[in-house]
Amino acid sequence: MNRKQRRANQKASQVPAVTAAGDDPVTLHAMGVEAFRAGQLQAAARLIGRAIAAHAQMPDFHYNLAIVLRAQGKLTEAAASYHRAIALKPDYGDAHNNLGNVWKALGERDKARACFERALVCNPDNADTYYNLGILSGDDGDTGAAARYFQKCMECDPQDGRGVHVLLAYLGKAGAPLHTSHAHILKLYDVRSRFWDNEDAYFGARLVANALREHAVPEKLNVLDIGCGTGLAGALVRPLARRLDGVDLSPAMLEKARAKSVYDRLDQADALLVMSQRANSYDAILGAAVLIHFGDLTPIFRAARNCLRPNGLFVFTLFSLAGEENFAVSANYRLAQSGCFAHSNRYVRQLAKDCGLAVDALRNVVHEHDPEGNPIPGLLAVLRAP
Ligand SMILES: C[S@@+](CC[C@H](N)C(=O)[O-])C[C@H]1O[C@@H](n2cnc3c(N)ncnc32)[C@H](O)[C@@H]1O
Repeated sequence: MNRKQRRANQKASQVPAVTAAGDDPVTLHAMGVEAFRAGQLQAAARLIGRAIAAHAQMPDFHYNLAIVLRAQGKLTEAAASYHRAIALKPDYGDAHNNLGNVWKALGERDKARACFERALVCNPDNADTYYNLGILSGDDGDTGAAARYFQKCMECDPQDGRGVHVLLAYLGKAGAPLHTSHAHILKLYDVRSRFWDNEDAYFGARLVANALREHAVPEKLNVLDIGCGTGLAGALVRPLARRLDGVDLSPAMLEKARAKSVYDRLDQADALLVMSQRANSYDAILGAAVLIHFGDLTPIFRAARNCLRPNGLFVFTLFSLAGEENFAVSANYRLAQSGCFAHSNRYVRQLAKDCGLAVDALRNVVHEHDPEGNPIPGLLAVLRAP
């Protein structure tokens, strides 16, 4: 079973917490959307289905049912539902766009392209559609067209919520950005927060927690968890910590971390900023799978050195980069789409030295498995302040 199927099964087994809604179609539909947001896919499909049974002429009902069906992996039914939405509202740009994604998932690339082009006719400023056409063109090996679509996407979305700057760098059409755009981080982890804690193919948090246990002196530590996410690493290291602080950009991830009640303090902020502001404050800084969103690590290493107490540890994971380069946008197209970078072992060693940090350990690890179960190589680093 692959990662997506495991996730769908986990959701399906959850008992929906839904109250009776009567037969009012608007209320039923709104409750269905709410259930979907809460991850209760079966309840969402049932409620929106009842809304449609009560009033079949609402394009939005069919559109949202299609979104739920797609999330359940019922692609053919999702396509049919989008078709019903479009039949009721032929210029429904978002429905054409999403239908394109369903056709793509079904392997119908020509139909997908036709839907995306139709979506652009309905809405010529749709950043999502430019993004989808860029990905489709990139998959087809037409990097020129992909770059043009990504540029258009960027024009419609200057904050770069879809991470196309990284993709342009991946295609060799732009220099790599300094880090993943914050808008992309927010969008990405708003979605990932829903299933992050059920992810059993990701090992970064455990790797970092075990390395801290192995390398730290056996006394209570003041720990800062940067990019703490939902608190996976925090929960593991809590017994070692006198004080445990976390920082993350994503409010959705932080909400899950807060619910675990393992941190003394949580801040929604840029990790770099927080480290720069808290000089000489921590015995350990943990960074499980967060520096994967930075290219040049110089500002991060300097800030970590500033933030650590004497002998303090900086423990983190990266995706590993083979070859001569210091760092690059990930050479894996899927990881590049998630705004990820990769770094070389040699670079980490050299930069540590330049920033006055000793290398206690720098190991090749399996960072995670991809959705097909293939291992993705990473680096686990333990650096020590003087
Ligand atoms: C792959 S998740 C890892 C989460 C957690 N460390 C774990 O191991 O489960 C990366 C996290 O880094 C956060 N992040 C990315 N860039 C950040 C930044 N500049 N400052 C703070 N958090 C950041 C994201 O919001 C996300 O929660």
